[in-house]
Amino acid sequence: MALVTTTEMFRKAYEEGYAIGAFNVNNMEIVQGIVEAANELKSPVILQVSAGARKYANHTYLTKLVEAAIAESDIPIALHLDHGDSFELCKDCIDGGFTSVMIDGSKYGFEENIELTKKVVEYAHAHGVVVEAELGKLAGIEDDVNVSDADAQFTNPNEVEEFVTRTGVDSLAIAIGTSHGAYKFKPGQKPQLRFDILDEVARRLPGFPIVLHGASSVSQEYVKIIQENGGNLADAIGIPEDMLRQAAKSAVCKINIDSDLRLAMTAGIRKVLFEKPEAFDPREYLKVGRANVKDVVAHKIKTVLGSEGKAL
Ligand code: G3H
Ligand code: 13P
Ligand code: ZN
Repeated sequence: MALVTTTEMFRKAYEEGYAIGAFNVNNMEIVQGIVEAANELKSPVILQVSAGARKYANHTYLTKLVEAAIAESDIPIALHLDHGDSFELCKDCIDGGFTSVMIDGSKYGFEENIELTKKVVEYAHAHGVVVEAELGKLAGIEDDVNVSDADAQFTNPNEVEEFVTRTGVDSLAIAIGTSHGAYKFKPGQKPQLRFDILDEVARRLPGFPIVLHGASSVSQEYVKIIQENGGNLADAIGIPEDMLRQAAKSAVCKINIDSDLRLAMTAGIRKVLFEKPEAFDPREYLKVGRANVKDVVAHKIKTVLGSEGKAL
């Protein structure tokens, strides 16, 4: 099926109370694992590329992998820039075949965030591309964004209408207690999300798609495999899946998952290499990593996102 924007995906997801999974891609095995699962379950999917992924794998290689995924599958796929930090990066991706970009101006003040987002929206819309922006700050670490717990900030619902109206943005990422990476809560801390903020945002923006970043659940099964095979991820804790399911039923139309794929792939590779020190054919361990990615994505589609069969 063709490469699409997220407009129709989000409209349907909002109306029917489910969310689309946005999975980060960095190499062929990850693309294949995600798309095989989504295709078998007839789920729409968003493949997202960060600035770090572009640096690692190269824009052309990644877009060609996505082209191959489209040719080999029968589902709607959107290609999205994750955490674009400048107009130039967004423009590069718009010119280079992406159907959706995120401009992450969350590190700036309200007015500066609006100004930057508006500039990206104008260019993107003129080229048939949709835009996600962010209000509020998530804690956690990505390649180009590093926000400490102390600097993290919940989204202020009083600001969302003005932000969306003045920028013309198509979807909005909000901060309600999720965070990037594998360490989302301290040991002993009760995982909590601010559903009151989400509800208030949804009330003020009826029908408008909301995005949740930092939504990995950090499967303790994979953490255990990594621990047992020479790794160290002690105290890695994610967002409970029932909370994400609740969010998916609400105005949240896009749920971002990267760390869970990293854990799945690493657990698979570590296990093969630890159990079989003589292995040196990359296919031998990468295929196990890829199968784990596929399992995780299938699990998310069925039990967290609720998007199974929605590509039909
Ligand atoms: O939210 C960020 C994603 O997990 C991408 O991470 O910048 O290390 O590619 P990255
Ligand atoms: P996780 O680190 O929780 O997977 O979040 C990924 C993300 O938000 C990508 O933008
Ligand atoms: Zn993110």
